[in-house]
Amino acid sequence: MCGIVGYVGHRNCADVLVDALTKLEYRGYDSAGIAVFEKEEIKVCKSKGRLANLTQKMETEGKPNGVAGIGHTRWATHGEPSDLNSHPHSGDRVTIVHNGIIENYKRLKEFLISEGKEFKSETDTEVAAQLLDFYYRGDPVEAIVQTMHELEGSFALGIVFADFPDIVFAVRCESPLIVGVGENESFIASDVPAIIQYTKDYYLLEHDEIAVLTPYGTKIYDTHYNKLEKELKTADWDVDAIGKQGYAHFMLKEIHEQPEAIRKTIAPRITDGLPDLAECNITLDYLRSLDRIFIVACGTAMHAGIVGKYVMEKIARVPVIVDIASEFRYRDPILSEKDLVIIISQSGETADSKAAMELAQQRGAKTLAIVNAMGSSIARGADMLIYTHAGPEIAVASTKAYMVQIAVMYLFSFQLALAKGKISEDECRTLVKQLEETPDKIAEILEHKESTQQIAASLVAADSLLYIGRGLDYALSMEGSLKLKEISYIHSESYAAGELKHGTISLITEQMPVIAIATQQDLFDKTVSNIKEVKARGACVTLVCTEKHSVEEGVADFRFNLPEFYDLLMPMLAVVPLQLIAYYTSVLRGNDVDKPRNLAKSVTVE
Ligand code: G6P
Repeated sequence: MCGIVGYVGHRNCADVLVDALTKLEYRGYDSAGIAVFEKEEIKVCKSKGRLANLTQKMETEGKPNGVAGIGHTRWATHGEPSDLNSHPHSGDRVTIVHNGIIENYKRLKEFLISEGKEFKSETDTEVAAQLLDFYYRGDPVEAIVQTMHELEGSFALGIVFADFPDIVFAVRCESPLIVGVGENESFIASDVPAIIQYTKDYYLLEHDEIAVLTPYGTKIYDTHYNKLEKELKTADWDVDAIGKQGYAHFMLKEIHEQPEAIRKTIAPRITDGLPDLAECNITLDYLRSLDRIFIVACGTAMHAGIVGKYVMEKIARVPVIVDIASEFRYRDPILSEKDLVIIISQSGETADSKAAMELAQQRGAKTLAIVNAMGSSIARGADMLIYTHAGPEIAVASTKAYMVQIAVMYLFSFQLALAKGKISEDECRTLVKQLEETPDKIAEILEHKESTQQIAASLVAADSLLYIGRGLDYALSMEGSLKLKEISYIHSESYAAGELKHGTISLITEQMPVIAIATQQDLFDKTVSNIKEVKARGACVTLVCTEKHSVEEGVADFRFNLPEFYDLLMPMLAVVPLQLIAYYTSVLRGNDVDKPRNLAKSVTVE
C-alpha cells in the first residue's frame, strides 16, 4: 500500500506535503515524491527510497514553491522501486498520485499505446494518468468520472490538472481517503495522522466519490456528477498521539501505551462487572445460537485470533477455526447462516481480510469485525463491530493493536461462555475483574524490562532461532517469533514444544537459540522436559515464566520472570517481554525498527 496526500491553501505546499508524508511513511517507503504548482506550471520532484532522500534532493535541486499540490510515499507493487516508477505520474496535462491497484491496467495500456500515448514507467498508476488525460476535454470532473468507469481495482487518487492551478482533485474507489477541512486550506490524505497537526476536521470519502478541493472549501460528487452533502467528522485524538514523546522509536512508545490501550478498550464494554457487547450489536441470544466460529485475519491480527481460539474453546466450549485470510478466501470454506466469522484487523483495510469478510457474507454467515481504525472499510462492511481503542499505531510492527485485539478476544469469550451457560454470572464477573487487572501488571513488567536487553544481546548474532511453548504459550509464541522476524531480520519459527522431537529438533545446535514460554501451570513440567531436550543438544535457552516457577540450575541460560497472574490471561503479560526482546534485538542490529525493510503497515493489495 502507499500513502497519498494533497494540499491547497496558503502555506508552502511542499513543506506541508513532506510533513504529511512523514506521518504516512508507515504505509510504504520505497520512494517518495510531490507535484506542486509553481505559478501555472506543475513541478514534480521524486526520488527512490525514503522520504529523507526526497528532502535531500530538494535541498540540492530546489524545492517547488507554491500553495497547491499532491504527494506520495510508495510501497512498490507494479515495477521495482526506482526514480522512474516513483509517483507522481503524469500525462500531458494531468499529474496523479495513487494508492491501491489498477487490475485492468495492461488492457488499458495497450489501448492507450494504440492511441499514441507513450509510457515512461512500469506502473499501473501511469495508465490512470494517461487515461485521465485521454478523457480530458476541459472539465476535470467529467474526465475523472469517465476514467472511473474504465478502471477496475481498488484505488484512491490525488490529481492535479495543469489548467486548474489552485485546485486539487481526489477520488476514492475502495482505498481509504479523507479530506481535511482547515481555515482557508484543504487537504487530502490516506489517513488522519497526516493532517492532524493542521486540522482535526475531515470528511471520510466513500467508495466512488470525487472531491474538488480549493482553499475555500471542498465539493464532493458521486459518479453521476451529483453534489453530495457529507457529515464532517472530528478526530478524537490530537497531535501528541502521533509523536514519539521522548521514546527512541514509535514501537517502544506503543509498547508502553499498552496498559492505557487495554483500559480504553475494555472499560466501555463492561457493565455491572459483566461484559456488555450490546452496543456492538452482539446479544446473548445470538451468542447462544452459535455452533461454530471462524476467525479470519492476517499477520499479527491472525495471531490474536489464535489466542482467541484457545480461550473461546477452553471456557465457552465452542469450536473455533482460525484462518489466514488469503487462504480462507480461496479455499472454498464451508459456511452457513449459523456461522459467525470474526475478522480482526488493525487498519480495517487489509485486502485479503476484507475479501474474506465479503465472501463470508455472500455465503450467508454473519460477520463481526474487530478493528482499530475508525470508519475503515472492514468496520463499515461488517454486520457487527467492536472497535479496539489502541489509538494510532505508527510502528509497522504491531504491538498495542495486538494487545487490545486479545483483550477483546477475552471479553468476547467471557460473554460467549456466559451465554452458553458454561460459566455463571459470578464466575464471569471474576474473569472480567482479572482482565481489568492486566494493565497494572503490564505496567509492572515495563518497569523491570532491563533483562530483555541482555536477552536481546544474546540473540543478536544468531542466524535463526526457535520459539517453543504449549497451549496458550504456543499461541503466543507465534507472535513472539513474527515480531522478531519482522524487525530484526533473524529467521525464526514458533513450534509446539511437544512436536519438536518429530523432526525440528534436528535443527538444534549451539548456534540455534531457543526462547521457551512456560506460563501455564498444567503444562509447565512438560515444557521444561522439552527445554531439557534442546538444552542437551547445545541450545542457548531463554525461559519466560512466572516468578513462582522453579527450575533446576542449568535448564535455562536466561530467564524472564513475569509476575504471578491467572493462567488464562498470561498471554497478555508474556507478550510484553517478547515484544521487547524483538525491539532491542532490532536496535542492536542497527535496523530501522519502525520501518522494517519490505514491509508496510497495512496491505491494501492482494
Ligand atoms: C501487514 C502488517 C502486519 C499486520 C498485517 C495485518 O502485514 O505488516 O503487522 O499484522 O498487515 O494488518 P491489519 O491492519 O489487517 O491488522
